[in-house]
Amino acid sequence: MSTWSPSSWREKPILQQPTYPNKAKLDAVLNELKNYPPLVFAGEAHSLKEQLANVAEGKAFLLQGGDCAESFSEFHADNIRDTFKALMQMAVVMTYAGGLPVVKVGRLGGQFAKPRSSDTETQGETTLDSYRGDIINGIEFNEKARVPDPERMIKAYNQATATQNLFRAFASGGLADLHQVSQWNLDFAHKSEVSEKYAKLAEDIEKSLKFMEACGVTSKTYRTLRETDFYISHEALLLPYEEAFTRKDSITGDWYNVAAHMVWIGDRTRQLDGAHVEYMKGIKNPIGIKAGPSMDSDDLVRLANAVNPDNEAGRLNIIVRMGANKVAEHMPQLIRAIEREGLNVVWSCDPMHGNTIKSSNNYKTRPVDDILTEMKQFFQVHKAEGTFGGGVHLEMTGKNVTECIGGSFAVTEEDLSSRYHTHCDPRLNADQSLELAFLIADSLKDAHK
Ligand code: PEP
Ligand code: CO
Repeated sequence: MSTWSPSSWREKPILQQPTYPNKAKLDAVLNELKNYPPLVFAGEAHSLKEQLANVAEGKAFLLQGGDCAESFSEFHADNIRDTFKALMQMAVVMTYAGGLPVVKVGRLGGQFAKPRSSDTETQGETTLDSYRGDIINGIEFNEKARVPDPERMIKAYNQATATQNLFRAFASGGLADLHQVSQWNLDFAHKSEVSEKYAKLAEDIEKSLKFMEACGVTSKTYRTLRETDFYISHEALLLPYEEAFTRKDSITGDWYNVAAHMVWIGDRTRQLDGAHVEYMKGIKNPIGIKAGPSMDSDDLVRLANAVNPDNEAGRLNIIVRMGANKVAEHMPQLIRAIEREGLNVVWSCDPMHGNTIKSSNNYKTRPVDDILTEMKQFFQVHKAEGTFGGGVHLEMTGKNVTECIGGSFAVTEEDLSSRYHTHCDPRLNADQSLELAFLIADSLKDAHK
């Protein structure tokens, strides 16, 4: 540990990185970024850790959601506002119908870099380097766009800054006021069973608020009625960028990633002796590790000990992403190993990444039924093991996209082409996210009976 530094990852084998053709330009950009102001304050990351410690104890639930990949072209205030509203809707459903406080973490405001299953992409006769996210190269299928350009990191930083700023404004400036519960419903929300359920819940909350107001409890007198805490996260994949935003906290002397409150490592870059795990060891933020079907229980224990040697509660979030009908086969051994060692972790479920398929018309999609099934199985296994399934990690948006198929207002394979906007993986739209929130609320109620 004494040899750790923000750049010690450079001594380790690393996967999923671009090769920048112009090293001098890369260094110049990184030197500039090192002087840019932080986006978050270490004390905030510490508060999130405390809230996640409550989740680890079963006293709160973690909702983490946002884009698979943010893009320069989808950068717009309306998109940010709608994702904020969709997350607020989900959180209020889980809190009111599920009976637990919800810790809200956006997967946005810096979620740009993408691991890819192949280094190259072939269309017809042409093979090019894969798209790795707007912070690295362009999605357009031509040679020029696919060349990694360090300047993109500056553009990504600026977009992350504006996005986080707007999220903070919404969280404290009135949009998160509980009296807005009906306004969080998105304009296009379809007349479906779920939207009616939400309207009913909003009506109940409004009645309670009226009663409380008569007792003198109003948004003016109670901050928690008019504001909320919202945290920010992204995958720490592009380590030169993360290194530039790794700063020593002047109060505690500890190192923090100051580009986000929480960062995670993906299922493809979690090698015990690899660069990404090395980077995570030295920062004090809460962190996540994705666990797919190939995760071995002994390896998980080694990883947990490596990144959280003091077994600090709220520091480590294991994000399980097995795929529907694989949870019962793979997850119990992971839970048992962590329990046997007495390790403090937050378990959350990413029901997205194990359920990606190709539609017959060649779109990358995900069946909502499989997403709901994986989520249900996650709760069932935790119940059987006597542990707490404490969170969900989602790719979702407040926009009315058609990227995942099914849901209460069924998106069909034929619909996929109409509003398929994602730059990487298919996201749940607002209706589909709300449906999942009700399922989670039912499971939370059941778990606390
Ligand atoms: C992701 O979260 O977008 C991702 C690539 O996930 P995973 O590492 O679980 O495959
Ligand atoms: Co994804």
